[in-house]
Amino acid sequence: MNQTSLIYDAVSRFWNNQTAEYFPAESFHYFEETESTNSFLLNQGLPNHCAVAEFQTAGRGRRGDRWEAPPKKNLLFSFSIRLPDDKTQWTRLPQITGWQMALTIQRCVDPSLPIKLKWPNDIYLDGKKLGGILVETIPAPEPIAVVGIGINVNIQNSQFPDELQAIATTIYSHAGCETNRWFLLGDFLNGMVNEGQPSFANFTPCLDWARSHDFLHGKKVKLKKHADSESLTEVICSGLGENGELLVSADEDSPTQSISSVEQLLFC
Ligand code: BTN
Repeated sequence: MNQTSLIYDAVSRFWNNQTAEYFPAESFHYFEETESTNSFLLNQGLPNHCAVAEFQTAGRGRRGDRWEAPPKKNLLFSFSIRLPDDKTQWTRLPQITGWQMALTIQRCVDPSLPIKLKWPNDIYLDGKKLGGILVETIPAPEPIAVVGIGINVNIQNSQFPDELQAIATTIYSHAGCETNRWFLLGDFLNGMVNEGQPSFANFTPCLDWARSHDFLHGKKVKLKKHADSESLTEVICSGLGENGELLVSADEDSPTQSISSVEQLLFC
């Protein structure tokens, strides 16, 4: 058995038939090293594929940031899905992904872990960033999303670069031991197929969870709305809208505005 088959075996061990049909062995890609699993699946341009890497030489975060992780420590993967025909449902994908990843970590590590989602794409644990989600879309001929996820799993806090020490965290620091990354990945993909995919149309369970685990709720933040705008707008976050957009207001007495995307979000 080659390495890809061994990892696929470990990842798919507890899948039901629906997940095994959705991500068959031929659509699973394992890399000791690749540029970026998102770039690989974007080049491929096909739905229902999953790519996982031990190390990325050009891992990408949101807004063109780099995403760096030492080899064989963290979970670095991407999957591709066919998006629903109804475009208004597309903004639901980051929340659905974050929700499913949070449930996976609680199921596989500890149900009491205080995980929250920081709109739009971050997974927080105990007030620090545990992981991030990068959603990229191929609109035509059929709309496909490539969703990349990086989770700090077995890296230890002391191994983070100095600038991340105070703002990032890892599963290891909460579990006190290593977690099997393939078990996490398998559980996540199974949840994504069985519970995540139907949530595009029936968003209520995801939205209820995201609203009650909303890291930004009640916090004052500064938003840069567009890449070319100089100014930052100070607002208070007041919740999530029906499609997962951020609700904000200038102060408690001002009307609520709904924000679907921002260039930058900073804490005050
Ligand atoms: C962010 O918080 O900015 C999103 C980070 C997403 C990182 C993951 S790691 C696997 C996948 N491949 C990439 O190049 N990026 C995503």
